[in-house]
Amino acid sequence: MSLLDHTPTTGTADAERIALDVFGVRATASGLPSERDRNFRLDAEDGSTWVLKVSNSLETRAVLEVQAEAAALSAAAGVPVQRLHPALTGATVVEVGGHLVRLLEHLPGVLAADAPPSPALRRDLGRVLGCLASALTGYDPPEAHRDFHWDVARADVVVRELRDVVTDPARRSLVDAVLERFDAVVAPRLPSLRRAVIHGDANDHNVLVDPGSRSAPAERFVRVCGLLDFGDVVHSLVVAEPAVAAAYVVARSDDPVGAVADLVAGFHAEHPLGEDEIDVLWTLVLARLSLSGVHAAAQSAQRPDDPYLTVSEGPAWRALEALLAIDPGFALYRLRDACGLEPHPRAGAVRHHLASTPAAPLLGPPWDELPIFPLDLSVGSDLFAAQDLGAGPERFDALIRRDVGGDPDAIAVGGYGEARLLYSTPEYATAQDPAAERRTVHLGTDLWTRAGTPLHAPRAGRVHRVEDNAAPLDYGPVVVLEHRTDDGVPYFSLYGHLSLESLTHLKPGDEVAAGEVIGWIGSPPRNGGWAPHVHCQVILDLLGLDVDFPGVALPSRASAFLGLSPDPALLLGLPPSVAAAPRRAVAETLADRHRLLGRNLSVSYDDPLRITRGVGAYLVDDLGRYYLDSVNNVAHVGHAHPHVVAAGQRQLAVLATNTRYLHEEVLRYAERLTATLPDPLSVCFFVNSGSEANDLALRLVRAATGAWDVVCVDHGYHGHTQALIDVSPYKHAGPGGRGAPPWVHVATMPDPYRGEHRGYDPSVGRAYADDVARCAAAAGDGRLAGWIVESMIGCGGQVVLPDGYLVAGAEAVRARGGLVIADEVQVGFGRVGPAFWGFATQGLVPDVVTVGKPAGDGHPLAAVVTTPEIAAAFANGMEYFNTFGGNAVSAAIGNAVLDVIEQEDLAANAERIGRRILAGAIELSVEHELVGDARGLGLYLGIELVRDRATLEPAAEEAAYVIERMRHLGVLVSTDGPFHNVLKIKPPLVWTEPEADRLLATLDRVLREPALAR
Ligand SMILES: Cc1ncc(COP(=O)(O)O)c(C=O)c1O
Repeated sequence: MSLLDHTPTTGTADAERIALDVFGVRATASGLPSERDRNFRLDAEDGSTWVLKVSNSLETRAVLEVQAEAAALSAAAGVPVQRLHPALTGATVVEVGGHLVRLLEHLPGVLAADAPPSPALRRDLGRVLGCLASALTGYDPPEAHRDFHWDVARADVVVRELRDVVTDPARRSLVDAVLERFDAVVAPRLPSLRRAVIHGDANDHNVLVDPGSRSAPAERFVRVCGLLDFGDVVHSLVVAEPAVAAAYVVARSDDPVGAVADLVAGFHAEHPLGEDEIDVLWTLVLARLSLSGVHAAAQSAQRPDDPYLTVSEGPAWRALEALLAIDPGFALYRLRDACGLEPHPRAGAVRHHLASTPAAPLLGPPWDELPIFPLDLSVGSDLFAAQDLGAGPERFDALIRRDVGGDPDAIAVGGYGEARLLYSTPEYATAQDPAAERRTVHLGTDLWTRAGTPLHAPRAGRVHRVEDNAAPLDYGPVVVLEHRTDDGVPYFSLYGHLSLESLTHLKPGDEVAAGEVIGWIGSPPRNGGWAPHVHCQVILDLLGLDVDFPGVALPSRASAFLGLSPDPALLLGLPPSVAAAPRRAVAETLADRHRLLGRNLSVSYDDPLRITRGVGAYLVDDLGRYYLDSVNNVAHVGHAHPHVVAAGQRQLAVLATNTRYLHEEVLRYAERLTATLPDPLSVCFFVNSGSEANDLALRLVRAATGAWDVVCVDHGYHGHTQALIDVSPYKHAGPGGRGAPPWVHVATMPDPYRGEHRGYDPSVGRAYADDVARCAAAAGDGRLAGWIVESMIGCGGQVVLPDGYLVAGAEAVRARGGLVIADEVQVGFGRVGPAFWGFATQGLVPDVVTVGKPAGDGHPLAAVVTTPEIAAAFANGMEYFNTFGGNAVSAAIGNAVLDVIEQEDLAANAERIGRRILAGAIELSVEHELVGDARGLGLYLGIELVRDRATLEPAAEEAAYVIERMRHLGVLVSTDGPFHNVLKIKPPLVWTEPEADRLLATLDRVLREPALAR
C-alpha cells in the first residue's frame, strides 16, 4: 500500500470543527494543495490566518516533533518559518481520528512560483538556506535518519525503482542519463560528503517572497520572507539543500547555470561549501529533477485524476532535458567560480608547469630578437575611432602598422582578457534583443604580423584537431594541439586564422616536437576575414567543443571562461613588456573615486557604469556594452563625431592660445553664432561652462543697469558659482542650501501640469508672468538688474513654458528697468527644433543669451551673447580676460559643431524624432496609469510619473526604479523635477527612429514589470 493510500479524507467542515474544538480558533476553512496530507487555510474570526495540517496516517509523532524542532532552530537563526499554534491542551501536535494535526501560522508573501525571478531573489534564497544549514549544524535526531523517497542522496535507488513507470521512452532516456551521471559523479563520493539534517524541499511552492509595495519597487520580490513545510526534513547531504532549491530556479531562467550560480553564491557566502560538495551539486540538481519526474509519473499512474500530482511533471522533464544538454564540466566551473574558487581545479597545476618549463619560440627567433610591441584593442583604445569599428581587414592592418610606427615587420601582441568592440557585429550577437549581452572578452593572445610567418609549437604535444572554420569572422584554418604537464595533466593550445596550407601540413594524432612548424599565419579573406595575425589560446577543458571553443566570451561568463583559458603568455614564454593588464574591478574605481574626488559628486545608478567610449547615440562601458544615451545633451551632434574630433585634433596640433592675439577662427565662430540669434544680439564673450556664462551674464546686466537685484524662477538652476547658487532655487532651497539672499526674488515656476495655473493657454502664461511682475516690483524701481530664466525649465522637471510667459514676464521686468537673460545652456542649438533657440518658441528677444553644454559636443565651450549697448556698458575699464574662453581649439570645435548641425539637418531631425517619442509616450500613458504627463519640444522631453492622476502624487521611487531597470536593459535615462519623478530625455540630436522606438519599447517593458504593479 502506498503513502497516498493513507492521505486523510478530512473536509473543510471537519477542518473548521477541529480548529474550534481542538485549537479554540473559530475560522472558515479552504483547501490547500498537498501531495500526501490534507492542508487547509483558516481565516479566523479575529482576522488572523492559519494553516491546519492533517497528516498522512503513516506520519509518526516523533517525525513531526523533529520537524517542529528543526523549524524552531531555524527560526532562532532568523529563518522565516511558520510558528505553531498550541492546542487547548497546550500540545502542538494533536491526534484527531487517527491523524496527527497541527495548526501553523499563515505567513504573508507571494509563492516563489508566482514571483518574478531575479538574481537578487535567487541569492537571497541561497542566503536563507545557508542560514538554515548553519542553524541545523549539529542537530542530529535519530528520526531524521530515514529512507525518504525524495532524498536526493538516494536518488539513484529511488529513480531505479520507479524508472519503469515512465512510459515515454524519451523521458526514460533522460532518467537513464541522470543515473549514469549520478553513478559516476555522486555515488563514489557519497561516503565522504558532509551530512546533516536538511529542510530538503525549498521548492518554489514552499518559498514565500516579500511582494513589498509599489512605492518601493526596488525592494519588491527580492527577499525571501517564508520557508514553509518541514515535512521533508531528513538527514542527508548538506549540499542537497541548495541542490533541491536549484532544481526549481532553473526552469525560470534562460541561463540555468547562471541561475544556480546565483543561488549557490548566496548559500556559500552564508554556509561555505567544500570543493567536493560543489563537485556533485550540478548532478544533484539533475537527480532532484529526475525524482520529480519519476514520482509524478508514478503518482499519475496511481491517481490519474489528481491535478496536483501532475503539476510538477511537465516543467521537471523540460528542465531535465535542457540541463542535460549543458556541458556538466562548464556548469561545474561556473559554480566553482560563483563560490570564489578557481573555475578549473587543475588550472594552478598547468600554470605552474608552464611557468617552470621553457617555451620554444612561436615565431622562430627568441622574443628578445624580435620587434614586439604591446597592442591595445580594448574598448578605450585610441587605435581606432568609432567609424573604424566595422572597417575591413586592410584598414585594420593599416591602423595596427601605424600604431607600431609603420614597421611592416613589427609584431603587435595583446588581447588576453581584453574587452573589445570588434565583435559587436551581428555574427557575435547572442539574440535579436538589442539589450542582450554581446561576447566581447577575448580569451587568447593575438600576435599581429605578416601573413606567411611560420608558427612553431611552443610545447611538445600531439595534434588534436586541424579544421577550417570557414564562416566569416571565425578562425578560418585552425590547429589544436594537446599537451600534458609533467604530472600528466592534459591541456590544449589553439592557433587560429592560419593559412590554407596549414590545413594539410599536420593531421590529428601527429606527434609534434617543441619548435616544430605547425602552420603559417593566414591572410584575408581565407583567415576568417581578419588582418593577418594568429589567435593563440590555452584551453584546459575543451567542453567537447574542440575548434568551436569560444575565443571571446560574454562578460557575465568571462570569469569562468578565463579560468578555463589561462594567459597564453605562460604557454608562449612572452616577455613582461607585452603582458596583459588585469581589469580593475568597478568597485576599485569607485573606492578610488571616493578617496580622490569630492564626495558630493554624485554617481549615477546603484550599479555604477564605467563608461569608456562614446559612439554617436551610444555610450559604451569598459566591457563593451552599448548603452543608448537618452540624457546627454552635451554630446549634441553625437558622441565622438568624427568631424568635431578632427577639427579639435587639427587645431590642437597647430595652436591653442588665448584671445589676446588676433585669430580668424574665433571671429568666424562669433559670426556664425550671432547669425543664429535675432538682432540686436551680436556681441560675444567666450567662456568655458554654462556657469561661467551665467555668472558673466549677471555682471553684464548689473553693469548695464547699475542695479543689483535679480528675479529668478523657482526650481531653476543656472550654475555652481556662488552668485548662481543664489539665483538657483534648485540649489539654495535644496539640501545644504541657505535660501535666497535678499537681492534675489523667486517667481513661481510656471508649471502647466501641476502648478497653480494649469495648461499652456496664454492666460496661464500671463497668470504666471504676474508673479514675475510681483518679484520685479519687490526689487523696487532702480534696483532691478534683471531676470534670469531658462527657456525650458530643466531641473524643474522638463517644463515647457505656457504660451506668452516669457514675453509678458520680460515686459514686466523691463518696465522696472531690468534686463532679460535667457539661459539656453540646456536647450539651445536646435534641440527644440528649427526654432533653434528655446526663447524663440515663445517669441521673445532677450537682452542676454547664455549658451554652454551642447556648443562643443563635449568640449568645454560656452558663451554669452548680448547687445552692443550692454557690451559697451560692461567695458568700464576693467579688462575682461579669460584664459581658455575663445581659444582657437574651442573655436574650431564650435565651428565644427555648427557644421554638423547644418549638414545633418539636426534641428529638423530633433523635431521629427521628438514628435515620435512624444506620441509614443502619450500612447504609453493610455495603458500605464503611472505615466501622468508627457511633454517637451524637439528632443527635450519629460515623462512625469504619478501614483494618482487626480492628486498627482509624485511617483519618485517608481521613477528611480524605472531608470535603474532601463540602465540594466541598456538605455540610460535620468530623473529630474522637484519630486524626482520626471524621466528626462534629452539625447544627442543624431537619434533616429530605431533609437526612439527602443527607448519607448524599453520603457514599456519596465512599466509592465511586476514591481510596478499595484
Ligand atoms: C539651465 C542651466 N544653466 C546653467 C548650467 C550650468 O552649466 P555648467 O554645468 O556647464 O556650468 C546648467 C547645468 O546643468 C543648466 O542646466
